[in-house]
Amino acid sequence: MKIKDLSKAPGHWVLASMGKRVLRPGGVELTTKLIDALNINKNDHVIEFAPGLGATAKITLAKHPKSYTGIEGDEQVAGKLRKKINANHCKIIASDAVESGLSDECASKIYGEAVLTMLADHRKSELMREARRMLCKGGLYAIHEIELCPENISSEEKAKIQKDLARAIRVNARPLTRTEWINLLESENFKIKCIENNPMHLLKTTRILSDEGLIRTLKIGFNIFSHPVALKRILEMRSVFNRYANHMQSIMIVAEKQ
Ligand SMILES: C[S@@+](CC[C@H](N)C(=O)[O-])C[C@H]1O[C@@H](n2cnc3c(N)ncnc32)[C@H](O)[C@@H]1O
Repeated sequence: MKIKDLSKAPGHWVLASMGKRVLRPGGVELTTKLIDALNINKNDHVIEFAPGLGATAKITLAKHPKSYTGIEGDEQVAGKLRKKINANHCKIIASDAVESGLSDECASKIYGEAVLTMLADHRKSELMREARRMLCKGGLYAIHEIELCPENISSEEKAKIQKDLARAIRVNARPLTRTEWINLLESENFKIKCIENNPMHLLKTTRILSDEGLIRTLKIGFNIFSHPVALKRILEMRSVFNRYANHMQSIMIVAEKQ
């Protein structure tokens, strides 16, 4: 992944350019729970919002769904993914996920990881509504995002976390509390089926090792220490994640279209 200016790029692309493939808050561990809870099988038509580098797509495709469609907002990333995922029953669409042009009730399972957190609240609802439109009745929608905690966090603390996070990752991230995530899904007529949490350890060595494996972790470490600008950005992000470790975790929710 080539980035023009590492000092200004969104945090996930800085990490990707250093070789990191898993770019979601709860790591592969929470992703595995999400995929298991969706129970993807041979009869499913699956849509993934924002597949990024395709790490979860690989897990999904190992379940042999009838079809897989990834809707990725970044054209360059979508192009790369199209080369990686090249089968008749798979399609990668380069588009904003709310404007894919896919038809009503075309999917039985839809999921998206680390995408809603980056959207303003009205855009979060828009994307959930789009998932609902494309799901057949009884279809499942799963999300994997950042949760703010505790539930009664003050609005001042919440605003401060959002500001520091946005400054560090250069994306206007808006994480929500558990109840806020639930309310948003319920107000789009989804029924909550299951919820799981994991610590927000995206930049902890143990998590990187378990997500990326030893060889890739060594490569990522080498790349980071060879790029002073990336090193500065990643230390800045890590310091915000550490500062708010008691106020941020990852959340996975599976909900059913009513
Ligand atoms: C933090 S990365 C997560 C990638 C992947 N889901 C993962 O967990 O590794 C965010 C991804 O969301 C994509 N994205 C952001 N907004 C989007 C939108 N409105 N529609 C489609 N993709 C979007 C970005 O291009 C990027 O690939």
